[in-house]
Amino acid sequence: MELFIDTAHVEEIKEAASWGVISGVTTNPTLIAKEKRDFKEVVKEICCIVSGPISAEVISTNCDGMVKEARELVQLAPNVVIKIPMTMEGIKAVHILKQENIRTNVTLIFSANQALLAARAGATYVSPFVGRLDDIGYDGTQVVKDTKDIFNGYGLATQVIAASIRHPQHVLQAAQAGSDIATVPYGILCKMFKHPLTDKGIERFLKDWEGVEGSR
Ligand code: G3P
Repeated sequence: MELFIDTAHVEEIKEAASWGVISGVTTNPTLIAKEKRDFKEVVKEICCIVSGPISAEVISTNCDGMVKEARELVQLAPNVVIKIPMTMEGIKAVHILKQENIRTNVTLIFSANQALLAARAGATYVSPFVGRLDDIGYDGTQVVKDTKDIFNGYGLATQVIAASIRHPQHVLQAAQAGSDIATVPYGILCKMFKHPLTDKGIERFLKDWEGVEGSR
C-alpha cells in the first residue's frame, strides 16, 4: 500500500518527503483554509516538493463550474489531480474530465455503491472516509474492503485511497483491507514510527555502549 500525506502544510510535506515514504499528497478546502495562503500558490508549491499525484479540490457544486475549475487547476502542474465530491454533478464532471485525460479523485465516499459509480464514470481514485464512518458507528474499513473486492472482481482500474485516517491502527486496517493507498495526516505518520520497545532498545544500546573500550 502506498502512503500519501493528508495536509496542505508545506513544512509537514517537506519533512515527510525527506523520509522517502510519501508518494502523493491530498488536500481539501478545510486543510487549505488552515494555511491562510493563496490556494493556487500552495498547490503549486506542494507540486514542486512531491512529484506524485497532488489532489486539489474544486468548490463548485455544479458540473460546469467543477469542469471549469478543474481545467484551470491542471494548468498549475502536471501532477495535479482534481478532487471532486460524490454528487450527481460531480460524477458528470468526472465523466467529462476523463475524456480530457484529467485525473480525478472522488471524495466524500461513504459506501461501496458510491465508489462503484465513481469508478464507472472514470475516476482515477476514490476516497472512502474511514474515520468519519467510524465516528457515527459504521465500519469504515469494511467500505474500503468491499470497494476493493468489487474493483478487483470486475477489473476496475480505479485506485482506492483510504482517507479520514484517525490513528495508526486505521493505516494497518487499510493495508489489510487491500487499499491501494492510505492518505495519512502528518501527526499519525509520526506516530507510526513509534514503539516503546524501540525507544527502550536504543536507550539500552547507548547505555551498554558506554562500557565498551574506546567508545568515547
Ligand atoms: O482529505 C479528506 C479526509 O482525509 C478528511 O479527513 O479527518 O477531516 O475526516 P477528516
